[in-house]
Amino acid sequence: MRKFIVGGNWKMNGSKALVNEISGALNAGDFGPVEIVVAVPAPLLPLAREKFKSTIGVSAQNCSQEKSGAFTGEVNVDILKDINVDWVILGHSERREIFKESDEVVGKKVSFAIKNGLKVIACIGEKLNEREANQTMQVVIRQLEAIRKELSEAEWANVVLAYEPVWAIGTGKVATPQQAQEVHSEIRKWLAANVSQKVADETRIQYGGSVNAKNCGELQSQPDIDGFLVGGASLKAADFVTICRCKL
Ligand code: G3P
Repeated sequence: MRKFIVGGNWKMNGSKALVNEISGALNAGDFGPVEIVVAVPAPLLPLAREKFKSTIGVSAQNCSQEKSGAFTGEVNVDILKDINVDWVILGHSERREIFKESDEVVGKKVSFAIKNGLKVIACIGEKLNEREANQTMQVVIRQLEAIRKELSEAEWANVVLAYEPVWAIGTGKVATPQQAQEVHSEIRKWLAANVSQKVADETRIQYGGSVNAKNCGELQSQPDIDGFLVGGASLKAADFVTICRCKL
């Protein structure tokens, strides 16, 4: 009942040539009912929207919670919509860690983006020391709560959650299917108890962190893993195609 969704997060990588290469590979592929969203750096968004076929979503990697104005270097929701970008990734751990985005800022950005017509991939996840201190769910719930308090029940229809344990991002150290499933299932229980059973049943939860063409098969078989948010492997056309086809 939840449509599997695979996102490619290019982070600060790529080029016009890579947009051409990956769009060529994805446009030619058959992915059945799997939804695909590609998040490219901001300057490449118009080209990506032009090159990827319309059934493939194009996403920004961040946006402002301000409408417009004197915010040098920021990108706002209206400009994204003006260039037909309808998704944004918010709260990625690199935004939280490197750019010091707090839970509160992430919650407000998620709310602002949704209220202004974008769909959001909202990232959550614990750091290694937090996992080792058995604080995984405490951290994830704190991050979720900052989002929940800004949203109406209906607005959750435009949210995809991405559980990305920070220790698994770009490290080659993937969470085991059991570790990922355990957290996804706890997140779903939390949604049922704190938002509604409907939102718990319908919200898609992606796993992100060193997903690749080899490990995607086992991960996708877990009942509460509804997709992936892929970093490094989304820059390699053949690998990303394999990941997008892992459910077929
Ligand atoms: O947003 C995706 C990401 O953080 C995972 O990156 O390179 O470990 O797949 P990677």
